[in-house]
Amino acid sequence: MIAGAAIRLATPGDAPGIAALSRDAIEHGLPWTWQAPRVARAIASPDTNVVVVGPPEAIAAFGIMSYLEDDAHLLLFAVQAAHRRRGLGSAVLAWLEDVARAAGAKRIRVEARRDNAAARSFYNEHGYHERALAPEMYSGLLDGVRLEKWLRAPE
Ligand SMILES: CC(C)(COP(=O)(O)OP(=O)(O)OC[C@H]1O[C@@H](n2cnc3c(N)ncnc32)[C@H](O)[C@@H]1OP(=O)(O)O)[C@@H](O)C(=O)NCCC(=O)NCCS
Repeated sequence: MIAGAAIRLATPGDAPGIAALSRDAIEHGLPWTWQAPRVARAIASPDTNVVVVGPPEAIAAFGIMSYLEDDAHLLLFAVQAAHRRRGLGSAVLAWLEDVARAAGAKRIRVEARRDNAAARSFYNEHGYHERALAPEMYSGLLDGVRLEKWLRAPE
């Protein structure tokens, strides 16, 4: 894990940078659905945690986690290409998981593109199990994989 990675809660000024990183790192080849106004709504929502690393004009990593009852859903997650494979993604994920545990979530769900070997390996490495393929889940164009991690035993 990166020692001293300054993970902080996002503020409205981070929305454009997060949206741009989503477009470049996650939504490439697909319609850009996480534009700044949508990210800003997530930042303002009491049911969503948005965390970032880096200043608004140079976001190095971010994660968006939403909560519905005792389920947490990692909606969007990325590390800027130049900062990858140095533990930054692991640090941000651990931060979000700690918050989910503290909030009483029983599991975390996340999706990745089926062809996203890096994300699938990353989530597998962190204890997420692939539970289903989701054909054409990305704008009807690309297949996805649904993953989940149980934070406490299912009742
Ligand atoms: C997936 C992603 C978040 C990983 O972030 P990261 O900061 O590079 O991850 P870490 O450095 O913490 O990696 C932890 C472990 O995950 C696995 N991993 C990460 N990237 C990997 C890759 N490209 N290939 C294979 N395994 C990988 C490795 O086991 C790695 O440990 P190691 O470096 O000691 O081998 C990053 O590649 C990314 O932002 N990708 C584009 C956006 C995306 O796919 N988001 C997730 C889906 S929404």
